[in-house]
Amino acid sequence: MLRNIFFALISATALTLTSTSVLAADAGAGKDAYVKNGCAACHGSEGQSVNPKMFPVLKDKDASFIVEQLQAFKSGARVGKGAGVIMNTKAKALSDDDMANIAAFVTGG
Ligand code: HEC
Repeated sequence: MLRNIFFALISATALTLTSTSVLAADAGAGKDAYVKNGCAACHGSEGQSVNPKMFPVLKDKDASFIVEQLQAFKSGARVGKGAGVIMNTKAKALSDDDMANIAAFVTGG
């Protein structure tokens, strides 16, 4: 009985901690997602772009703009041109949390 109450308390605490971390964008997790999804190959290791003429610089943009663009690529409301067609595929692999975290990372947050 006491054991069950103890576990119920632990799970409730874990849930609270999880939902708190979802609300605040996590730049560290964003860096992991950015690297894992291969974004750095075009947008540079920190969003500075490997070639600004071909790939947009991300680090000078607002985090909210980054998230909006990724959502638009994911939904198809924005369609990438040229090398940018990859953005529609890349964005589909990202969750809402990934987008918020990546935006925090590339904008230095
Ligand atoms: C193969 C190169 C390439 C890769 C890899 C890539 N991108 Fe892009 N990205 C582009 C290009 C090119 C554009 C411009 C698209 C267009 O409008 O045609 C773009 C556009 C964007 C934009 C909109 C920027 C703006 O100023 O409008 C964001 C945000 C973005 N990419 C984030 C990412 C993220 C996050 C990843 C990894 C999940 C990623 N990109 C992977 C080439 C790439």
